[in-house]
Amino acid sequence: MDKVLRVGIIGAGGIAKAVHIPNYLKQSNKVKIVAITDVVKANAESAAKEFHIDQVFTDYQEMLDAAELDAVSVCTPNKFHAGATIAALQAGCHVICEKPPAMTVKEAQKMAETAKQYGKILTYGLSFRHTPEVGALKRFVDANELGEIYAARVHAIRRRGIPGWGVFTNKELQGGGPLIDIGVHMLDTALYLMGYPEPDTVFGVTYQKLGNKPGVGLAGSWDWENFSIEDMARGMVTFKNGASIILESAFAANTEKHDEMSVSLMGENGGADVFPLKMYQEKHHTLIDTTPSFLPVKDNYELQMERFVDCCLNEYQPISTAEQGVILQKIINGLYESADKGESIKLFAE
Ligand SMILES: NC(=O)c1ccc[n+]([C@@H]2O[C@H](COP(=O)([O-])OP(=O)(O)OC[C@H]3O[C@@H](n4cnc5c(N)ncnc54)[C@H](O)[C@@H]3O)[C@@H](O)[C@H]2O)c1
Repeated sequence: MDKVLRVGIIGAGGIAKAVHIPNYLKQSNKVKIVAITDVVKANAESAAKEFHIDQVFTDYQEMLDAAELDAVSVCTPNKFHAGATIAALQAGCHVICEKPPAMTVKEAQKMAETAKQYGKILTYGLSFRHTPEVGALKRFVDANELGEIYAARVHAIRRRGIPGWGVFTNKELQGGGPLIDIGVHMLDTALYLMGYPEPDTVFGVTYQKLGNKPGVGLAGSWDWENFSIEDMARGMVTFKNGASIILESAFAANTEKHDEMSVSLMGENGGADVFPLKMYQEKHHTLIDTTPSFLPVKDNYELQMERFVDCCLNEYQPISTAEQGVILQKIINGLYESADKGESIKLFAE
């Protein structure tokens, strides 16, 4: 029989139960979930019962020591990503850690270094990379259809979408608000399609205008009295190759659309909007727009988890790497630092 990947889950909350566990279970010929851990015992126990997982722990180190695992999903709040990931890598496991990589650049670097040192795969739950739109556009980009991409616009903006569950409005546990939570997805998508260039300078501004008072909550009612994050972040990133990204991310803002997740790319040979996919070019003295008439229908989370399992079993590198996670973290933390200091920040290569 082919090898079966023995998986453990760290953090038995929303994303573990909606994405990681069900998508491992769909691959039951290749994967067995053998253990789950959560600091809240009831969370681990109820997930174990619902998904028929044999071993339950409240401490991830105990699970890593006892359960003989090949791979781990890290699904905790952001503050615990680095500790759990590093411990799992040191225990000889491949890891998929939820986004964002970590809370600080130092943590993301240590995670990447540990993966390298132990020769294990470390990838992140940057799920938009696995959408059909991004998959298709990457093929056009690789075929030079857009030429050198020198400018991008990134939006992750909700009109009234402050999460009313979890710890998403707690800066101490999450490291920030919409920028680190949803902006990270669109920023990563743009960076991936631009070839993950080396960042040079960032300039960021954050606002707290709507989240710290009661109001309409389209994503549940949030704890406005303890709202410790920004409700909007805006910024600009420049890269050593001369490219630049302009970014806006909000959990709440007075805009028309209720939820906008978009990336626009502008290159020398063409441009593109990614969601939905549309490309813009000048050919034969004509301005043309191109839209796909067919894209494969595949859930991006399902593909993300399939790809992770295949990488672990066949030991090839994931499309989202630990080193890219460091660059992503540098930009996010640089934008926050810039907003705090009120000045642009130079991000030097380490
Ligand atoms: N890729 C996506 O689209 C997506 C969507 C939602 C959440 N996420 C990410 O997933 C992570 C978790 O989010 P969620 O919505 O599942 O949160 P959640 O609050 O629903 O679940 C987190 C769980 O982790 C547990 N936990 C906390 N500290 C722990 C520790 N040290 N060890 C073990 N368990 C611990 C909590 O008790 C809780 O059960 C976050 O990093 C978030 O950014 C990603």
